[in-house]
Parts: sequence; C-alpha cells; structure tokens
Amino acid sequence: MEEATAKRKDAHLDLCATGDVEPAGNSTLLEDVRLVHCAMPEMAVEDVDLSTEFLGKRLRHPLLITGMTGGTERAGVVNRDLALLAERHGLAFGVGSQRAMAEKPELGSTFQVRQVAPTVPLVGNIGLYQAVQIGVDGVRRLADAIGADGMALHLNAGQELTQPEGDRDFRGGYTIVEALVKAFGARLLVKETGCGIGPEVARRLVELGVHNVDVSGLGGTSWVRVEQLRASGIQAEVGAEFSSWGIPTAAAIASVRRAVGPETRLVASGGLRTGLDAAKVIALGANVAGMALPLFRAQQAGGLEGAERALGVILSGLRQALVLTGSASCVELQRRPRIIVGQLKDWLAAL
Ligand code: FNR
Repeated sequence: MEEATAKRKDAHLDLCATGDVEPAGNSTLLEDVRLVHCAMPEMAVEDVDLSTEFLGKRLRHPLLITGMTGGTERAGVVNRDLALLAERHGLAFGVGSQRAMAEKPELGSTFQVRQVAPTVPLVGNIGLYQAVQIGVDGVRRLADAIGADGMALHLNAGQELTQPEGDRDFRGGYTIVEALVKAFGARLLVKETGCGIGPEVARRLVELGVHNVDVSGLGGTSWVRVEQLRASGIQAEVGAEFSSWGIPTAAAIASVRRAVGPETRLVASGGLRTGLDAAKVIALGANVAGMALPLFRAQQAGGLEGAERALGVILSGLRQALVLTGSASCVELQRRPRIIVGQLKDWLAAL
C-alpha cells in the first residue's frame, strides 16, 4: 500500500477504536419505531427461525459484519477474528476497502479470511471511484483473490469532501455501476458508509440491475467526523458543520423498501447497536442488519472473546424481540404492526 494510504488507515482505526466518531446529535431515528408486545407468544425461544438467504448462501442469523479493514497486520487480525465469529454464528462478513491490495498485492494476506471462514457469504470491497481507476477486471481480480461471494461498491462523497486528499469530482458514478452489474450480476452490493442511500438513488440503482443495497444511514460511525478529526483549517470547520449530515438509518431503510420491489435484498446498517435495533430495521423492510463499529470496538478491547460476547448479547436481543412480538421468523416480524412516531414520521412523509 502506498505509505500515505497505510498511514491514513491506521489513523482511521485508532480514531474508530476510541475516538468520538459518533456525534451525539446523530440519530438512526430507530427510537421512533416501536414494535408491539405480544403477551402470549405461543412459541419456544428455540422455535424462532432467524435464517435468511444472502448472496446465494444461507445465513443462520440475518446479520452482516460490514466491511471495515485490511492492509496492515493489525487489520488482518481484526478481519480474521470477526470472520471466524461470522463462521461460528452463521453471519455474513465483509472486508474493508481492498484499495490497499490493488496498490500492493502482497498485502492481500491481510484480507484473506477463507481459512477461518470457509462457508460465510464473504463480501469484497472497493470505492466507487477507485473502481474506475482499476477497471472492471481489476475489481474482479480483487474479489477472486479473496474468494468473495459478493463485491461491495462503497459510496462516500461526504467523507471524500472532508478529506484533504479526497475526490472532488463525482460524475459518472451510474456508468461505473452499470459496468459492474454486467460483470458481477446479483453478486454486486452497493453500500453507503454512514450518510445513507435514499429512495431516489436506490430506485435508480435497482433499475440498472443492482440486486443488493446496504443503505448504511446516519446514526452511527460518521466518516465525515472521522475525517474532521484528522483535518485542519477550513476542512475541519466544514467537516464539523457536516458531521451530522445524512439520512437516518430508519428513514433510509423504510423509504428504500417502499421504493424497490421485494426481490431487492436490502441491508440496513449505520448506528445499529443492539439486537432490538436489528429487529426494528428488519421490521422496516431490511433482509439483513449490518454492524461495524460495535464489533470492531469489542474486538479491539477484548479480542475474539470480547467480540463473541458482544455478538452474543446482540443475537439474544434479536431473538427476544422476535419472541416478544410473536414472530417465528423475520418474514413474520415484517407482518406485525409497528408504530412510527416523531421525526421519523416526518422523514417518511417527505421521502
Ligand atoms: C468502516 N466502514 C467502511 N465501509 C466500507 O465500505 N469500506 C471500508 O473500508 C470501511 N472502513 C471502515 C472502518 C471502520 C473501523 C469502521 C467502523 C467502518 C463503514 C462501515 O462499513 C459502515 O457502513 C458504517 O461504519 C456504519 O456502520 P456502524 O459503524 O455505525 O455500525
């Protein structure tokens, strides 16, 4: 990896491990969603079937550990620990941006997780504009090199504009997506990185043939904030102004599900921190709930064991939410009543 890329990635990991990367005013608006209690669930906890299909494989739990890292030794450990967790519990797993690997193929080992996660739906990762630079064949090589089932194309205009060395020209994005759909078909996933994909963009992506969208909305890790913390001068000030910019995750997933057909697989990530959060996004139309920061932090603080404990709490909460709404599966949960109040109601009236 170019020295600058390596240094930036390490600074990102340090900031995400301990820094204030979730601005207090940011909200997923999941607090504006209430699921309705069922006093007589008439089922056993183990009867709840949380399984779902993702990228042609079966998940035992509808969770994706979304792409975070790779390219350094430390990042390699994070990838292997979290991928092993995904394998043990039947989740999907994504590596972070493989740009580093495209620049220096010898860093590929830090993205390799197949030895510990032979059966998980594995997702590669590259930025939209880096995909232009390396071309469709380059992106295909990155996916093949790690044995990925799918490839995530990440959108991060907000982050780029706050990064001194970031992109300033965002033209031609849909043309790139179209070329990648031709190459990857239903294996392509388009994701945001914490500012959210809204219904207009989602509809256009689906029209181009995209099958998988991760709305990755506002309310959790803010990449504008991460870059603001690294920036100085004008960029730092404008970054502060925009660190709460985005479509809250609850608004993004509910509006995107209304805009696209049931055959589009939707991931909802961005600020999900509990099993109940995961249940709420599924109720709003997600097929899979995505999480990054909470599992990264748990791994950094307590290694594999710490991450496994954090995941255990999340999975128990999710199962409990299904039992207490009287839902034996995610599809049943989506048919249960839900109450939408407050700001989320306003967002959904506008989108
Ligand atoms: C990320 N995220 C990310 N996304 C991506 O597509 N490529 C990447 O390389 C990274 N890198 C990365 C590193 C770290 C340490 C974190 C915490 C996150 C974004 C991530 O996949 C997700 O979209 C957002 O972080 C929102 O989810 P959380 O963190 O609020 O659960």
